[in-house]
Amino acid sequence: MNEILRFEGTTKVLRSDLAGRHLYTLGPLDLEVMRGEIFGYLGPNGAGKTITIKLMMGLLRPTSGRIVYFDGSTRIQKARQKLGFLPEQPYFYQHLTARELLAFYGHLFGLRNAALSSRVTSLVRLVGLDEHANTRLSKFSKGMLQRIGLAQALINNPDVVILDEPLSGLDPIGRSEIRDLIVKLKGEGRTVFFSSHILQDVEMICDRVAILANGKILRMAVVPDVLYGSVTSYEVLTSNAPPNLIRKLNLGMVSARGGKTVITMPPDSDLNTSLKRLIAMGVSIEAVNPLRQTLEDYFMRELKGGEGPAVKTPGPGHRMFAGTSKENGS
Ligand SMILES: Nc1ncnc2c1ncn2[C@@H]1O[C@H](COP(=O)(O)OP(=O)(O)O)[C@@H](O)[C@H]1O
Ligand SMILES: [Mg+2]
Repeated sequence: MNEILRFEGTTKVLRSDLAGRHLYTLGPLDLEVMRGEIFGYLGPNGAGKTITIKLMMGLLRPTSGRIVYFDGSTRIQKARQKLGFLPEQPYFYQHLTARELLAFYGHLFGLRNAALSSRVTSLVRLVGLDEHANTRLSKFSKGMLQRIGLAQALINNPDVVILDEPLSGLDPIGRSEIRDLIVKLKGEGRTVFFSSHILQDVEMICDRVAILANGKILRMAVVPDVLYGSVTSYEVLTSNAPPNLIRKLNLGMVSARGGKTVITMPPDSDLNTSLKRLIAMGVSIEAVNPLRQTLEDYFMRELKGGEGPAVKTPGPGHRMFAGTSKENGS
């Protein structure tokens, strides 16, 4: 994997009143997006996700620092050919059909005739709208609009797809459809960067996440490290074990649940030895469940500026950000 996009000490200061009062500062941001990954940009409303994405797309210019694209260029005009973009709450002309909308965007990228027609056909198929290709967008559900928006972002066959809150405002089915599409894009070798405030969605599909609050990145994390490198305990379910006898083994906390005996063992337990001892006593093991923190636990801890668990592997080529939200309380 190599780097496809890099923020280097990038800041954006926004002043919007006549006195030029300082209203909001994003950054300085230092982050890299690696080729082929799904990168989740996570943060509550107002954190600065959209501003970050506008900087990436060249819709805003950094106040300081820079953004480096692909092979070391800082020229967005050149990079844009390889970027696909779905804005937050996109607005499309309601009287156009799905095909017409895609053809319109294809034209902007210089596609014509057979090439345009075949790109449009393959995109409506990719997003599962082939049966509605000639339906006006005014008849589309929110989920269908989001899917055609995603197709629009792919019209130039981009290497990197940047999606601003692609999952918000959708029902569970709509969300799972978009999630599946994002995973499909990764399967095609594309890089996906998307913002979200919905933790579960990020948890399910991202390789890495950055957590943003008040314009600062609190932490970058490799999702499997957060989820799988963080067993908080093991629950061993046994069927025919008298709790009193088990307690004497000192393997962990022993309790009864629904007719079973549950032993909760610490995360650093020697599971093999403990299980062998139980089996030697004639105990029947029904299940061993590793209990893990979810990204939600992690996120809440980070946002509170509390003692988040250290992320062991910072992931390919990026720095760890250890700031807390307190640094940013102005
Ligand atoms: N043009 C602007 N001028 C001043 N402040 C802005 C402007 N655009 C956005 N903001 C403020 O910047 C902050 C971050 O906005 P945004 O990036 O849209 O957040 P997010 O997408 O994470 O919800 C918000 O507090 C917002 O009110
Ligand atoms: Mg936003």
